[in-house]
Amino acid sequence: MAQGDLSGRYYLSYEHIHLSVRTLANRIRENGFHPDLIVAIGSGGFIPARILKTFLEIPIFTVGISYYGPDNKPGPAPRMIQWIDEVEKKLAGRRILLVDEVDDSRVTLEYCLRELLQHAPAEIAVAVLHNKKKEKKGTLPPEVRRYFAGEELDDKWICYPWDAQDITAHEKIARSGIVAH
Ligand code: G4P
Ligand code: MG
Repeated sequence: MAQGDLSGRYYLSYEHIHLSVRTLANRIRENGFHPDLIVAIGSGGFIPARILKTFLEIPIFTVGISYYGPDNKPGPAPRMIQWIDEVEKKLAGRRILLVDEVDDSRVTLEYCLRELLQHAPAEIAVAVLHNKKKEKKGTLPPEVRRYFAGEELDDKWICYPWDAQDITAHEKIARSGIVAH
C-alpha cells in the first residue's frame, strides 16, 4: 500500500520503492517469465530497472522517450531522444522485460513496445512500479501477453524520491504513515 498521501498525492520513500521492486521481481519469477534483458525507459524507469537488476541479475539497456518538443511544450506524440542502435541487433530471439516507473496514459509504453517488436524478440513483457487505475489512451499490442505492476494506484500524482529537491522532507512525508486510499 502506497504511503504518505498529502493533498491527494502519493509520496513514496526509497525503501518503499525497493520493496515494491522486490515484490515485482517475485511476481515475474512466480509467473515463470525468465527475461534475458531489461530495457529501461528513461528517465523514470532507470532507478526501478537498476533495483530490479539486483533481484533478476540480467543486463539493462536504456531508451529515452519524450513527450515534449524542442520548445518544451507537449508534442503530438512521443519521440525518441535516445534509442538502442547496434544493441537492437541483440534483441532478436531474446526475452525482453520493458521497465518504466508508471503506467499513466500508456502512450509511451505502447510506442516503445511497437518499436521493440520490430526487432523480432522471442517475447516482450512489461513491468511497471505503478499502474494508475484510469482509462488508458495507449493499448498494449496483442503480442504482449505478460504485464506486471508492483502496485495499482488511484489516479493521483505520485511523488518519487528521485524527483525530490529536499529528500529529507520528502522521506519524512513518505514515512509519516498516512495511507492513501
Ligand atoms: P505511460 O505511457 O508510460 O503511461 O506514460 P506517459 O507517457 O503517459 O507519461 C508522461 C510522463 O509523465 C512520463 O514522464 C511519466 O513518467 C510522467 N508521469 C505520469 N504520471 C506521473 C506521476 O504520477 N508522477 C510522476 N512523477 N510522473 C508521472 P516522461 O515524460 O517519460 O519523463 P521522465 O520523468 O520519465 O523522464
Ligand atoms: Mg517515464
